[in-house]
Amino acid sequence: MTASDIAAIVAQLPKAELHLHLEGSIAPETAAQLARRHGAEITPAEVAHRYRSPDFPGFLDAYKWVTSFLRQPQDYALIADELFARLAAQDVVYAEITISASVMLRRNQDLAANFAALAEAAERSKSRGLRVQWIFDTARQFGPEMAMETARWAARLAPRGVVAFGVGGDELALPAAELRPAYDLAREAGLRAVAHAGEIGPPQAIREAIEILGAERIGHGIAAALDPALMERLASDGVTLEICPTSNLRTGALARQFGAESASLDRHPLKSFFDRGLRVALSTDDPAMFETDLIAEYALAARLGLDAPEIARLAEMSFHAALLPEPDCQSYLARFRKRTSELGLL
Ligand code: ADE
Ligand code: ZN
Repeated sequence: MTASDIAAIVAQLPKAELHLHLEGSIAPETAAQLARRHGAEITPAEVAHRYRSPDFPGFLDAYKWVTSFLRQPQDYALIADELFARLAAQDVVYAEITISASVMLRRNQDLAANFAALAEAAERSKSRGLRVQWIFDTARQFGPEMAMETARWAARLAPRGVVAFGVGGDELALPAAELRPAYDLAREAGLRAVAHAGEIGPPQAIREAIEILGAERIGHGIAAALDPALMERLASDGVTLEICPTSNLRTGALARQFGAESASLDRHPLKSFFDRGLRVALSTDDPAMFETDLIAEYALAARLGLDAPEIARLAEMSFHAALLPEPDCQSYLARFRKRTSELGLL
């Protein structure tokens, strides 16, 4: 079966996406529109050019640059409505959306007002058949105090759909131990824990995210491919890796982890993780910046060697790893299985 056959099948499945940054989903046209709203003239082509960064620091710069055009609740409402429309059009029925909450705080924005606009957008998306929950992310390079402040906000907004606290940004900027108090605060407030780790950092960063921060899901974690004992442990402990192949190529993470000659998607460890029984949740990370979408990532998984039933199992894993109450999780799984059996996939 070709990758495009797989894409056609995956398009017909109800899907979940778990690792998706709101601010990385701003289409070039929308970024240009937001820039104009705030007095800057930039063409969509210029935005697309900025999005094509040569390496990881370049990617973080581009991310910081595009978020500079998000200044008020209407800006957030616009990008959320657009993202949710695109997700619904792909039959994504459940999404956990990461918000760079620490960026809002660092820019002295009214986080409560921004989040209210986002929560309203999530409410509107229900009519399209999409359920959204939120993850508040702190940028590692902003330090432990900002992490605490972000965790406090996440706890405060838990009643409105924030389900987890996480860390992203420059993975090498701060040791995990410095983030521990923020994760403890979040956990005591009933939030779940996720963390970017082993994206550009070493396998040890994944161990620390689990042992020190209590992360139940790891953003990327591709460094695990360098450490067979760690892969075994991830498989036996049932830790999910949120795998975003195009992101790893475009940020330079693949080349950084596995050598410059690995700067090709064909070297991505997704299939190796899958074959070893690791839990994997396929995602896009920053779809507009990387010019991808969830269906395209499944087509890539097929290119990496997963056959149609394996692709279906992969898609099912995202529902298993969702931060949902058990009955809700089961009801999505039942719906998913019904569709896969109608399509003759499982
Ligand atoms: N923020 C948005 N995307 C990210 C990534 N891939 N790694 C770290 N922080 C991020
Ligand atoms: Zn990410």
